[in-house]
Amino acid sequence: MIEIIISTMRHGAFSRKVGNEVFNIYKILTNDVGLIDLKDLPKEAFLADAYDDRPRAIKEFSDRLLKADGVVVVIPEYNSGVPGVMKHFIDLWKFPETFNRKFTIISVSSGAFGGIRASGHLGEILLNRGGLIFPQKILIPNVESLFNEKDEMISEKDKIRLENHSKAFIEFVGKK
Ligand SMILES: Cc1cc2nc3c(=O)[nH]c(=O)nc-3n(C[C@H](O)[C@H](O)[C@H](O)COP(=O)(O)O)c2cc1C
Repeated sequence: MIEIIISTMRHGAFSRKVGNEVFNIYKILTNDVGLIDLKDLPKEAFLADAYDDRPRAIKEFSDRLLKADGVVVVIPEYNSGVPGVMKHFIDLWKFPETFNRKFTIISVSSGAFGGIRASGHLGEILLNRGGLIFPQKILIPNVESLFNEKDEMISEKDKIRLENHSKAFIEFVGKK
């Protein structure tokens, strides 16, 4: 099983458009894929009680991650790092089990560097807590220019990049 995480809850986020595109690519390559969008986190996840009995408030998502062989994290760069909601989500994961799997990172930004700081920040968090990080990372700069008004990805070059990356990650995970 491969789970894809969209790491923001911002309305209209371009990283969600990228995440949906990645999900569609994986659906063609494997029938064992799911999508977790942080805009769907329950309100209880943001109450102080959420820390008392982790991961109860996010149990549905936590259970899915615990079954995943590979996790694809699509992440925008917010203030030079991981969006707060993604860090909070990780802080509610069951430790150490949730970290003990294979991850890959696709970072996104409107600027020229493709979210390299968010990618590095997330990689460090996952690695320090026991994750295995696929060495091929994808950085997507100037993300607004990749989509038309119907939210379709118009950059063929980036589509091919994402397809090749997805095939390589499936091989790394060892799962069809
Ligand atoms: C709260 C916030 C902080 C941001 N900080 C950065 C940043 O530090 N560096 C950067 O390149 N882009 C930054 N951006 C712009 C994002 O790269 C841009 O919104 C891009 O579309 C990806 O984010 P999205 O998935 O929310 O659309 C920021 C955007 C938001 C909403």
